[in-house]
Amino acid sequence: MPDKPPLIDTHARRPAWLALFAIALIAGTIAFAFAWVAGWLSPDRLTPERFVDAIEKGNGEVYPGFRRAHAKGVCIAGYFEGNGEGAALSSTRMFEKVRSPFVGRMSVGGGSPYGLDNKARVRSMALELRSDDGQQWRMAMNSFPFFGVSSVEAFYEQTRANAPDPATGKPDPAKQAAFAEAHPEFKRFAAWAKDAPWSTSWASTTYNGVNAFRFINAAGEGRNVRWSMRPRTPFVVMTPEQREAADGDFLSEDLQARLAADALRWDMVVTIAEAGDAILDASQPWPEARQHITVGSVVVESTSPQTTGACRDINFDPLVLPKGVEGSGDPVLAARSAVYSVSFNRRERDIASGTAGAAIGNAPTQVDTK
Ligand code: HEM
Repeated sequence: MPDKPPLIDTHARRPAWLALFAIALIAGTIAFAFAWVAGWLSPDRLTPERFVDAIEKGNGEVYPGFRRAHAKGVCIAGYFEGNGEGAALSSTRMFEKVRSPFVGRMSVGGGSPYGLDNKARVRSMALELRSDDGQQWRMAMNSFPFFGVSSVEAFYEQTRANAPDPATGKPDPAKQAAFAEAHPEFKRFAAWAKDAPWSTSWASTTYNGVNAFRFINAAGEGRNVRWSMRPRTPFVVMTPEQREAADGDFLSEDLQARLAADALRWDMVVTIAEAGDAILDASQPWPEARQHITVGSVVVESTSPQTTGACRDINFDPLVLPKGVEGSGDPVLAARSAVYSVSFNRRERDIASGTAGAAIGNAPTQVDTK
């Protein structure tokens, strides 16, 4: 009987060094990929971590447990009530004539949870809506009608230009001037910050989504849109003298007083883009003549402290969207999503590790109106 061929062809076996080399190559490739993604190989590349580092530096100090931007605020709760007019624009259930409850947050711009309301130029509203078909819509809107700059990189440069100089404790005017010179679109924002009237309340302020989004209706038709929450509470101008005299926590005090009397309402007004309107650049306003459609109302019923309320652990990532709403492709939206996540992880780590304990205990107190 002829010999059976050996089960293993020992002549064809690869040398051990080759296997080790293959393992080392795979491990090296993985390590390289991690290092590249983390930005260790390219110290100048803008990563979400570096953006949050720059924001923290700009704040002058880190406030453990708090949002790294818009650090001062309060939680709110209520519902969004669709009026049916939005159904032609988007298939989201929230635009039907139903109520979708939300947890939200009113805040002011700035990195300190102890900042003064009467010095805060930017006011904000953030919402996490939940519909009865299991969808979520998170949004974070500001009182400015357009973004200050046209790109993520420019906003990073602005953050760095505004950081306090260690020698003076104040931003370096030369760096700020160089930034403004390099970004002519910033002029429009600076004019808004200087001249737009301040209102006396969070309740009478308009909040703008600023970035463009895309609505898709049931027929699959898409439209580029922006939206604003317009207050039903009449606008009352706050003069510079009134501002000077106001309490540093006047916004939350005013909100509590108003909610003790009644709920507050804003209309959600959607603006439809036309050909040629800037979709990928939130620093470019669209012409006022665009079609505006009111699709429902935001109704705020109660407020609670941000340190204990349900909004504390929400990341109002603007790309958490329901069916029928999509991002527009504006790179600022993707950057916001990535940067908010890093900010969220840092503050949640502070809270979980106990680093935030004392700070959270010292946060501005507020009566729970629930
Ligand atoms: C590249 C541009 C931007 C960056 C890097 C940025 C960064 C941040 C960061 C780090 C936070 C804190 C997030 C957290 O800890 O949960 C935040 C909050 C916020 N941002 Fe932005 N932001 C950008 C653009 C915008 C724009 C265009 C708007 C307005 C439409 C906006 C509105 C808000 C609001 C309202 C909050 C507070 C949300 C809350 O109450 O939790 N941001 N931002």
